[in-house]
Amino acid sequence: MVLATYNIKGGVGKTSAAVNLAYLAARDGASTLLWDLDPQGASTYLLRVKPKIKGGGRRLVRGKSNPETRIKGTDYERLDLLPADFSYRHMDLHLDATKRPTRRLAQVLKPLTPEYEFVFLDCPPSISLVSESVFEAADALLIPLLPAALSARTLDHIDDVARDGTQKLPFFSMVDSRKRMHRDLMQSFAEQRPEMLHTVVPLAADVERMGQTRAPLEEFAPRGGAAVAFRELWKEIRERLGA
Ligand SMILES: Nc1ncnc2c1ncn2[C@@H]1O[C@H](COP(=O)(O)OP(=O)(O)OP(=O)(O)O)[C@@H](O)[C@H]1O
Ligand SMILES: [Mg+2]
Repeated sequence: MVLATYNIKGGVGKTSAAVNLAYLAARDGASTLLWDLDPQGASTYLLRVKPKIKGGGRRLVRGKSNPETRIKGTDYERLDLLPADFSYRHMDLHLDATKRPTRRLAQVLKPLTPEYEFVFLDCPPSISLVSESVFEAADALLIPLLPAALSARTLDHIDDVARDGTQKLPFFSMVDSRKRMHRDLMQSFAEQRPEMLHTVVPLAADVERMGQTRAPLEEFAPRGGAAVAFRELWKEIRERLGA
């Protein structure tokens, strides 16, 4: 099953979700791969891997290098990483030069999927050929949303561009439940959007600390509210996917 953390907007919690959820999947016993598609390589950094693909991103995306040999192990059992590469900043161009651009990422993943129960795609914030290729490759989009009025429009835009066959699982991220506005917004959202996950990821210093510890929450703050939320979120996602 291929799950992409996706949003058009940047800085909403895509990478934090990808790293923590992939970690939990692996810890549950599932062989798991995380493909860091963002040239900035944040999830590669958090998992302590060198942000480099031998031969570059162009060859990988065009099917000219074997993805299996580009995969790195992480410090965690059953969790592997296909790292970011700075050349991914040109991925749109590389895809555009192929025959079926939107099929490419799915094609690259094809030989890998039998080996992994879950593949996570950590996407760069954009709406582009890369996103279209992600939509074709993914069974579901995990969409972190800020509790802000504009998020409703963001979700409408994602609905417009993503394929109907791709399940969308939006959830609230960076929530300050002391704020009345956050609570009100979340309530009205839930009424209009039955697909919203019920679990909410709180605004928590622990998540920011991941940048210093370079580790998933479970490794350094398993009892904190953020770790609890991600465990609950993963459980809810699995239930919704029947996985
Ligand atoms: N729940 C949270 N509470 C507090 N800080 C958070 C939370 N989630 C993410 N952050 C912080 O916000 C910043 C952006 O988070 P993250 O990298 O997960 O978002 P992103 O959507 O992947 O960003 P980008 O679009 O740049 O890839 C990071 O510094 C991260 O530590
Ligand atoms: Mg990111």
